Amino acid sequence: RPGGSTRGGALTFRPVEQNTLDELVTAQGYRYSVVMRWGDPVVAGAPEFDIARQTPEAQAKQFGYNCDYIGLLPLDDKDREALLVVNHEYTNEQLMFSGVATESSPTTPQQKRIAMMAHGISVVEVRRHGNTGEWRPVRNGRRNRRITADTPMEFTGPAAGSEYLRTKADPRGRTVLGTLNNCAGGQTPWGTTLHGEENFNQYFGPAAGPVADPERRLARYGISTSAAAGRRWHEVDPRFDVAAEPNEVNRFGWVVEVDPYDPTSRPKKRTAMGRFKHEGADVRIAEDGRVVAYSGDDERFDYIYKFVSKKKFRRGHDRASRAHNLTLLDEGDLYVAQFTGDSAAEIDGTGTLPSDGEFDGTGRWIPLVKNGASMVPGRKVDWVLTFTRLAADELSARGPEWAPTKMDRPEDIQVNPVNGRVYAALTNNTNRGVGTNPAADEANPRSRNRHGHIVEWKETAGAAGERFSWRIFLVAGDPSDPSTYFAGFDKTKVSAISCPDNVEFDPAGNLWISTDGSPSNLPGSNDGLYAVPTEGRERGQVKRFLTVPFGAECSGPLITRDARSVFVAVQHPGETDGSTVDAPSSTWPDRRRVNPFPRPSVAVAYRQDGGRVGS
Ligand code: FEO
Ligand code: CA
Ligand code: CA
Ligand code: CA
Repeated sequence: RPGGSTRGGALTFRPVEQNTLDELVTAQGYRYSVVMRWGDPVVAGAPEFDIARQTPEAQAKQFGYNCDYIGLLPLDDKDREALLVVNHEYTNEQLMFSGVATESSPTTPQQKRIAMMAHGISVVEVRRHGNTGEWRPVRNGRRNRRITADTPMEFTGPAAGSEYLRTKADPRGRTVLGTLNNCAGGQTPWGTTLHGEENFNQYFGPAAGPVADPERRLARYGISTSAAAGRRWHEVDPRFDVAAEPNEVNRFGWVVEVDPYDPTSRPKKRTAMGRFKHEGADVRIAEDGRVVAYSGDDERFDYIYKFVSKKKFRRGHDRASRAHNLTLLDEGDLYVAQFTGDSAAEIDGTGTLPSDGEFDGTGRWIPLVKNGASMVPGRKVDWVLTFTRLAADELSARGPEWAPTKMDRPEDIQVNPVNGRVYAALTNNTNRGVGTNPAADEANPRSRNRHGHIVEWKETAGAAGERFSWRIFLVAGDPSDPSTYFAGFDKTKVSAISCPDNVEFDPAGNLWISTDGSPSNLPGSNDGLYAVPTEGRERGQVKRFLTVPFGAECSGPLITRDARSVFVAVQHPGETDGSTVDAPSSTWPDRRRVNPFPRPSVAVAYRQDGGRVGS
């Protein structure tokens, strides 16, 4: 039988126990090392980190805060050198600056500018240490780069230059400064990385009182229409005031493509992929050569999207092929997912399996933009791409067969390289079935879904097609909870798991899941990284591979193509109630004796004997 964990990828490690230690705990037989920490020098001229002497200029050259997505692009054929590409999603000022009591406390203009420089993306050359699974950074690597909230980038695709993207500083609507709230991401087969701009709403608001929002262009994205954003960045840069510069906010919420091999390249915001709270974007090549990208919109009751390029991927690393491939994400069709259950009438919200034994059904990709034309009545393409959430809502007016499915916070999506099926993490949705909110359905089968689930689908008309079949792979939680489901596997032999967030595959097709939210849902547990076979007799046997330090979420996960290393981003260690630089709940990883504080960091875990991760 093809693939799965049966092909040399058995997950034989012994699961890590639930814990609340302020440490990164790996399975037995593994070690970890810290690769890059907040503040570590990245580009030439960067000073050593000194928490007492932070400046925007220093931070703009140092590793940013709250690492999330991790990409690894090879620099040689032997997997000895590579480019580590890391998102810095957001900042925790109370854990960065002494005297800042809470995340909503006032900050100085200087602190705001430092925070802006701590956002964005880092590119760092890394090298394998000896012949192990450990990787170490290369100081002053030639391609090392920082991208921040101020780095110039270009709009490309159908909405570039649109009236919705024009501002006083950029009357042509073509150039924007910076990228914000980069969460998950993806790597393309042509050697670039994709970065989702997620909760960009938290940076924008009207500084001087309410603004009108007749079409709900602000409200539908969670942007305040009544007050300045809590971060008050408009005090140092007026573009964050939506009254002063109404279109600036439309310039965030996109997928950003970066070419890490060329440190002088301008990042591109690819408007053809739509604007929402992009969790990330994962790319595959369809049977006919077109490029398919999946992206979740992380909000309760929001949607899953798919982009299909018009042009085809060209193999080969010659200059002309690469130049061609760098245009693939600028033209194509944008779809939103509709999931239809085959036992819909039996779903009662308790998580009880329907009589056919599975939460499953068929699906349809509903076009928003197709062959260059808008499929939303009365709306032009640039409107559909800029206000994609509103456009997807309006599709329902065409009839129920056009209604996309409101999901339980669609997070990271990843294609299984072995079985070709697609896996989407749905983190949670405690409002499912509450009050006037949508009730449980077969694709979101649990009311008050606090632990989340994972849906798996197969494209039945080709990867670029409009039909799929789906089933739920995992309904997360403590296995003693009857509403959990582990793909039918014996629940007495699985690890408790809550809030699946980022997903990744090892080369054997095992699914690796990092979590964000365990501490509040599973008593006595930190977040962590789990692995589970998707095929064979052990399909559904979830096992906890590592846990992250106190207060952190686990994100990023990346498994090297030789399967000897697993990178994780330890995001916001010490982010707990009342925890500040002056009294932090985590001191990982530095363990300073005097004035300790936590540092969000990328770590790499590997087998001590150099063997395959998961074994
Ligand atoms: Fe940034 Fe949806 O997690
Ligand atoms: Ca069913
Ligand atoms: Ca995430
Ligand atoms: Ca992923």
